[in-house]
Amino acid sequence: MRSGTVPPRRLGLDNAVNVDDVRAMATRRLPTAVSDFIEGGGEGEVTLRRNRRSMDALTFRPRALSDASSRSLATTMLGTPVSMPLALAPVGLAALAHPLGERAAALAAAEAGIVSTLSSSSCWSLEDVADATPDAPKWFQLYVWRDRGITGEVVQRARAAGYRALVVTVDVPVGGRRERDLRNGFTIPPRPTWRHTGDVLAHLPWVARFGWDEMFGHGLTMGNFGGKTAVTKRMAFMERVNSRFDPGMTWDDLEWLRSLWDGPMVIKGITNERDATEAVARGIDAVWVSNHGGRQLDGLPATIDVLPAVVDAVDGKAEVYLDGGIRRGSDIAKALARGARVCMIGRPYIYGLAAKGQAGVTKVIELLRTQLDNTLALLGCPSVEALDEDWLRR
Ligand SMILES: Cc1cc2nc3c(=O)[nH]c(=O)nc-3n(C[C@H](O)[C@H](O)[C@H](O)COP(=O)(O)O)c2cc1C
Repeated sequence: MRSGTVPPRRLGLDNAVNVDDVRAMATRRLPTAVSDFIEGGGEGEVTLRRNRRSMDALTFRPRALSDASSRSLATTMLGTPVSMPLALAPVGLAALAHPLGERAAALAAAEAGIVSTLSSSSCWSLEDVADATPDAPKWFQLYVWRDRGITGEVVQRARAAGYRALVVTVDVPVGGRRERDLRNGFTIPPRPTWRHTGDVLAHLPWVARFGWDEMFGHGLTMGNFGGKTAVTKRMAFMERVNSRFDPGMTWDDLEWLRSLWDGPMVIKGITNERDATEAVARGIDAVWVSNHGGRQLDGLPATIDVLPAVVDAVDGKAEVYLDGGIRRGSDIAKALARGARVCMIGRPYIYGLAAKGQAGVTKVIELLRTQLDNTLALLGCPSVEALDEDWLRR
């Protein structure tokens, strides 16, 4: 769903004016099955659409003549100063968009002074990414595997490599049914068949780059779990998730993770006040309101709609973040006005990666920064810290 004006025909990073423009560049470069994997949502994609619709439905209440001459975007996340209330959400298999994948994204975030969260399902290993960005604040996202030995080991490696917070994702007990992937016969690693011939021919530069990297470079690996050997067997994405992730995980498993991780712990994938209350009772440091970008349970509410109830339930005892459908700086302003401390983006920076690697991610971050600053000025709001419900119409 587009959220803006029509882009020029000769679109490049230089004349991209919003995230949709970068998305258009990405779509042109990626085979349909790959861009479907990135764009897709669970089942009928109702939640995916709802994330955007609910965001668009919110309206502002600016303050005229209130001195908009200087604005501050800086804030903190779990005590770490960041240049703006934005962070990169974990996105697995980012090398599908660009061979430098998660490493390029982490470098762009470091340069921009924001936090990046590395997916445990990354192609680049957590050590590779840490070595590339030694001084930058980085978080590590965990899926709990059935094999607790493997899970525990990766947590300890993340701590040793200097990741500052552990983000435990709780909305993937099993893989969501993404119908686009099922129809496309999408596997990891991708396997072009006769019916993909047209798609492959239309995207030869991607195919060549991906093929070259598969053969001679880093390739599509499970960087944190055995590298290339872990993905030699082709599997449908859902099948891969269901064979590894533990659907039997409970709140008590958080206690076990605590015994391995002495830093801050964040819980990602909360969409209601009951779970938020439980998370706080379990001593979680931050609650990340997310419906996985509409990719898991379809029929969930938009994250922006449940945010106020979660913020009330948390009652200042933990930080609250939000992702899902953030495509403009004004979306960040809306979420902050509703009580989020910081917003995260998933697909937008993957569009940037696909469009032009690290430079594309930088472009997306800087577009959102410029838009957020512009929104604050137009609202007459001096800082992101000053945003509250009063800046929205009820
Ligand atoms: C291609 C793709 C892969 C993802 N992989 C992960 C992952 O490995 N771990 C995780 O916690 N969330 C994952 N997510 C969800 C994102 O972290 C985030 O919640 C979501 O993308 C936010 O919505 P947005 O794409 O509208 O910004 C993934 C999302 C996408 C689009």
